Amino acid sequence: MYNLLKGKRGIIFGALDENSIAWKTAERVHEEGGTFVLTNAPIAMRMGTIKDLAEKTGSQIIPADATSVEDIENLVDKAVEILGGKIDFVLHSIGMSVNVRKGNHYTNQNYDYTQKGWDVSAVSFHKVMQVLHKKEAMAEWGSIVALTYMAAQRVFPDYNDMADNKAYLESIARSFGYFFGRDKKVRVNTISQSPTPTTAGQGVKGFDGFIAYADKMSPLGNATALDCANYTVSMFSDLTRMVTLQNLFHDGGFSNMGVSQAVIDYFDKE
Ligand code: NAI
Repeated sequence: MYNLLKGKRGIIFGALDENSIAWKTAERVHEEGGTFVLTNAPIAMRMGTIKDLAEKTGSQIIPADATSVEDIENLVDKAVEILGGKIDFVLHSIGMSVNVRKGNHYTNQNYDYTQKGWDVSAVSFHKVMQVLHKKEAMAEWGSIVALTYMAAQRVFPDYNDMADNKAYLESIARSFGYFFGRDKKVRVNTISQSPTPTTAGQGVKGFDGFIAYADKMSPLGNATALDCANYTVSMFSDLTRMVTLQNLFHDGGFSNMGVSQAVIDYFDKE
């Protein structure tokens, strides 16, 4: 451990269970000396085991539905009070598609569901940043990260409307990142992570084939949730102060591959 986040305060959204990327991130941030509040939707608190994580990391939990500006305002006020100062880092690790959950194909959307998924998965990021910006709750040289997936750029048919949500999310990171950088010296980035076996990940149809394919295509193999946590820690640290408005691929090299020998061998019958 390197004490990379010593003295830094943050908010971590989206730890549901020990597989969650946010869970691993909270553990790693704690090990690196950061303090934080944990938050999740009230319903997820009942389903998940976030209390164990809070105990383990000496953190408090503040429930907030990330689509509710009122909840986020309450969260930010309490976080600043509990942590004793402005916020240095924020992880947005939230995603949910009602169309995916209900098994609606991309060509057969229920638009009420589309809107709900968009609000939860993308607009919530704008809401979080708008509240932090208005309340002047971010410390100078703070760092805000949201998690995304490459379906924002390329076609992965079963990723469904989450592909569109991720494209929107990445755009918000750039657009808000400009104002946050100019006004507060705060950086905003998205990390585009390999497929990862979590509750949200496994909701994608054909996930097992999908994750195995990505692994075979990537020279380094798939990045795990722990790898992602480590990368996020580096993005929260002072070592990455000039990185902003970026969509950072954290995928073992997948995004720049055309085809790998392992995949060719799989199809080569001779
Ligand atoms: P997860 O299921 O553990 O986390 C998703 C979280 O979103 C849960 O904690 C859930 O309670 C929370 N959430 C849902 N609705 C909410 C609301 N209204 N308010 C507040 N929180 C809400 O799954 P995972 O994989 O850790 O997901 C974290 C992020 O990583 C998501 O943005 C996901 O899209 C992204 N990601 C995941 C990949 C994967 O293959 N698992 C790959 C690339 C990105």
